[in-house]
Amino acid sequence: MSDARALARAYLEQQRLMGGDAVVLPGEHPTSSPPPPPHLNGDARAPNPAVTAFEPPPPGLSFDPPAGDLFSTDPIQQAADLLAIDRLVADCTKCRLCESRTHTVPGEGPADARLVVVGEGPGRTEDATGRPFVGQAGELLTKILAAIELPREQVFICNVVKCRPPENRAPQYDEIAACTPYLFRQLELLAPKVILAMGGTAAQALLDTKQALGALRNKLHRFRGIPLIVTYHPAALLRNPNWKRPTWDDVRIARRLLDR
Ligand code: URA
Ligand code: SF4
Repeated sequence: MSDARALARAYLEQQRLMGGDAVVLPGEHPTSSPPPPPHLNGDARAPNPAVTAFEPPPPGLSFDPPAGDLFSTDPIQQAADLLAIDRLVADCTKCRLCESRTHTVPGEGPADARLVVVGEGPGRTEDATGRPFVGQAGELLTKILAAIELPREQVFICNVVKCRPPENRAPQYDEIAACTPYLFRQLELLAPKVILAMGGTAAQALLDTKQALGALRNKLHRFRGIPLIVTYHPAALLRNPNWKRPTWDDVRIARRLLDR
C-alpha cells in the first residue's frame, strides 16, 4: 500500500471512530474474475461489475447497538464466553417461541472464526437437532462457503432468533427484540473480521433498519465497526435460482474482505 493510501485509510478510520460515515477506499484491480461454481451458476443475470472489477461496494449503514458496561447486571452482558450464552439460551423464556421449541439453536462454530454467518431462525431440522443450518438450506450454505474456500467448520453460523417459529413463519418484531441481545453478545465475543447477513431478517436486525434486502445488498455496512455484507437467504435461493448469481457476487465480496 502506498504511503498516501495508508494515510488516507488512517484518516478515514479516525473519522469513522469519531462518528463519521463509513467510507470505503477503492480496492486493487486484479485482471481476472472467476466464474461462479456450477451450483451457484443459476441464471443469465449479468455479473455485478463492481465485483468483477474487484471494487469494494459503496458504504452503507452502520449500527452500533448499546455495548455492555462493566457494571451491568444483565446475565447476557456478563456471559464470559460462547458456552455461557448457549446455557442462557437453553433456559430462555423471554418470548413465546420458547413454548413450541424442541431444542434451542444458539449457533455453532469456532470462537476464533473470522466469518460469522447470520440467518433468520431455526427450521424443523434445526429444532430437532439443536444445530443451525443443517436442513436443505444448510446444505446449500455449506456449498456456498466451500465455493469461497471456507470449510463450514471454520465459520461461526447462527441465527437472529434461537428458537424455531411455529410452521417456519417469520419471527415477529417482539421476538426479534427479545432475542437479539444473545446475538449481539455472541458477535461481541467472537469479534469476527466479517459478518455475512443472509436474508432480510438478519440484515434488518443487525443494521437496525426496515430497508428491504434489495436496498441493502451491494453495500459495505458495519456492525459495531465490523464489515457486514448482506445477501439472499439460502432458503430463498432454493425457491428462486435467479438469485444464485448475485449471491455469488456478494459472498466473493465477503471473501475479499476476509483476505484484506
Ligand atoms: N434457516 C435459517 O435461517 N436458519 C437455519 O438455521 C436454518 C434455516
Ligand atoms: Fe429466548 Fe430467543 Fe428463544 Fe425467544 S427465541 S425464547 S428470546 S432464546
